Amino acid sequence: MERRPEPELMDSEAQTAAYAAADFNESNSLFTRLFAESFPDCAGSGAMIDLGCGPGDIALRMARAYPGWRITGLDAGENMLRRARERFRSEGEALDVTFKHGYLPDDSLEEAAWDALISNSLLHHLPDPLVLWHSIRRLARPGAAVLVMDLCRPAGMAEAQALVDHYAADEPPVLRDDFYNSLLAAYTLDEVRDQLEKSGLAALSAGMCSDRHWFVKGRITD
Ligand SMILES: C[S@@+](CC[C@H](N)C(=O)[O-])C[C@H]1O[C@@H](n2cnc3c(N)ncnc32)[C@H](O)[C@@H]1O
Repeated sequence: MERRPEPELMDSEAQTAAYAAADFNESNSLFTRLFAESFPDCAGSGAMIDLGCGPGDIALRMARAYPGWRITGLDAGENMLRRARERFRSEGEALDVTFKHGYLPDDSLEEAAWDALISNSLLHHLPDPLVLWHSIRRLARPGAAVLVMDLCRPAGMAEAQALVDHYAADEPPVLRDDFYNSLLAAYTLDEVRDQLEKSGLAALSAGMCSDRHWFVKGRITD
């Protein structure tokens, strides 16, 4: 099935409210587990950036798992960031997390300054996917840990609908529509491998980590 892009930013009141209230425990804990398994040596301290952090659930989980790290969540949506900051005010005061407004590519971010770069469910929003991979290359310190995860576009619309019915049966319509549109906008694993090749990141490993998600992980070696 051909990719059907969706609007890049996800920032209406209705969308951000539904997204922030949704239960992403399964996919977000998959993300943090993958990070822990892939980088068992990340126990100490460092600077981590979450690109397209949305309402901040993964940043919060990472801050709890890696208390020595300084974590920055970056997002282009002001409403999303407001929800992330509210969440941290109520749940995460003692954690070292900052939320920053920024639209990738963002030249104001310091180059080669980050020891870990993470991103979940951002790539499928980007009209030019190389923006994410070039940003990672520019921002990563040599040896930085990278973990990116996103949805994988299914073979057809019926398969996309079946995934929505299976995983979001009880969710509100706005979230079901977002999930369906995101599946249609998602990049396939082959497309992602091609993007890595074009960005000089072919040394990172890529694969599937669920029936609907792919991952890219590894360390930036140069
Ligand atoms: C589907 S949400 C994912 C949020 C979060 N990472 C998560 O896993 O729940 C995608 C986020 O990427 C943000 N976004 C889209 N394009 C962006 C860009 N060019 N730069 C920064 N953020 C962007 C959107 O505002 C939205 O909050």
